[in-house]
Amino acid sequence: MWWKIALLLVFAINQSLTTSFDLRGVINGNRMAGVPLGMSLGAGELDVEGICIRSGMACQNCTVSITCVPLPVGWLKVPLEECKDGFTCNAGLGKCSKDAAPECEASARQFQHTCEQVGIFPDAYDCRKFHLCSPPEGLPDGRPADHRAALCPRHYGYNPQTAQCSIKLQNGQCSEKPVPECRSIGQNGVLPSSSNHYYVCLIKNQTLYPQIFICPHGWHFWGGFCQPEPEPKQNPVVTPESETNKETKESSEENSGKEDTVKTSTYKIDNFFSTEKVATYAADTFLADKFDLSNYETTDDVQPSQSDDFFNSFENDNDFW
Ligand SMILES: *[C@@H]1O[C@H](CO)[C@@H](O)[C@H](O)[C@H]1NC(C)=O
Ligand SMILES: *[C@@H]1O[C@H](CO)[C@@H](O)[C@H](O)[C@H]1NC(C)=O
Repeated sequence: MWWKIALLLVFAINQSLTTSFDLRGVINGNRMAGVPLGMSLGAGELDVEGICIRSGMACQNCTVSITCVPLPVGWLKVPLEECKDGFTCNAGLGKCSKDAAPECEASARQFQHTCEQVGIFPDAYDCRKFHLCSPPEGLPDGRPADHRAALCPRHYGYNPQTAQCSIKLQNGQCSEKPVPECRSIGQNGVLPSSSNHYYVCLIKNQTLYPQIFICPHGWHFWGGFCQPEPEPKQNPVVTPESETNKETKESSEENSGKEDTVKTSTYKIDNFFSTEKVATYAADTFLADKFDLSNYETTDDVQPSQSDDFFNSFENDNDFW
């Protein structure tokens, strides 16, 4: 008999929870289990997104700051403030600030990665974001690669060296941009986080922005080119300033036509602007974590083949996430 009563109790508790709270998160996270009965959530909400890792201020996103309150199990997030125009949520400073985290800068939010090559690329501004560029379906001539952008699971940044979201972020925000600031057209260099990737500063839509490329065959970018060998270690460590000097020196050398003397195993950067089809990959080859898709946020700007289908599939996507 007692077990029936217990069962009833469990059922009743479940029901009361269902009426009081939005239970969507429980289904995948089960983070609700520890909410004490009778505790009012007030203006707060259970942190089913996993934003909170300690009590106190945190950023819901670039515009909304919250306060995290520990519960016996899990966290309550209480909205703190919506940042005013020109201010963004900065978890390091603990408030809305004019000093933006790299991914919250206006340029970062406007930036759109262009697929110039097939592959997987870090975002130039947002350390949490990566771009999947796959060969267009049916390989029609002249069509650019299909593009899909994805965000790493919360609190992790994208590591271009391993193509995984493995860099633990402080306060859930980036501490630096993946690419140095563009100051002039043609400025280029290796990405600090991967010797296989390099950036070139280009003008697009009247704005100077960095385009990230990847060296073929696992080659390494140094000395202004993709080269089969990694940069020799005995080179003195270059500071960002001396690197800039080196870059300008190299580009002036190039202008005076000295690149003819470069050995044949090196490539001119311009070669990589070609959209030559490299290889085909299965659609999910690069999704390291394909069994945990709910951790990834994606934006997909693959061109619809029939415009009628577009909204339907988009809605279905939303349902899925
Ligand atoms: C930030 O989060 C708030 C609250 O969830 C939401 O209303 C707002 O749209 C988000 N802003 C952005 C830019 O995603
Ligand atoms: C070009 O830039 C303007 C503002 O700078 C923006 O509104 C527009 O959407 C951009 N166009 C493209 C294709 O990126």
